[in-house]
Amino acid sequence: MKQTIIEALQSALEIEHEITKETILKISKQLNVPESEVYGVATFYTQFKAKKKAKYNIEICMGTACFILGGESIVEILRKRLKLKDNVSEDGLFQISIVRCLGRCSEAPVMSINNKIYGKLDKNKIEKLISNLEQNNEV
Ligand code: FES
Repeated sequence: MKQTIIEALQSALEIEHEITKETILKISKQLNVPESEVYGVATFYTQFKAKKKAKYNIEICMGTACFILGGESIVEILRKRLKLKDNVSEDGLFQISIVRCLGRCSEAPVMSINNKIYGKLDKNKIEKLISNLEQNNEV
């Protein structure tokens, strides 16, 4: 299967620990996609790298199955719902990061909250999960 831009960026981060202009150029050539496209995904991806600890750590899967089945829209839904600034919610309760396959591809798109996995996500399911956590303060 063809490597996605996010997979290439994740591999590069594991090896080089940062995304440089050279990294973007290299991935662009390897995957035969425009530099601007790699740059766009890199910007999107790196802003979700965890910086501080919130009560609820949400990991959004961006492995191949989840990416294809709407992983990016899950990020968008959470970004709007939680009013994310960098990767942390406005109230400081939630923190978001993007991860590789969580091992539940048949339930894609998938995310975990404090290591508990939730699959077949859509806007309604996410809203229920977040509201429940905000009201009850537990997973
Ligand atoms: S790709 Fe998301 S759980 Fe496997």
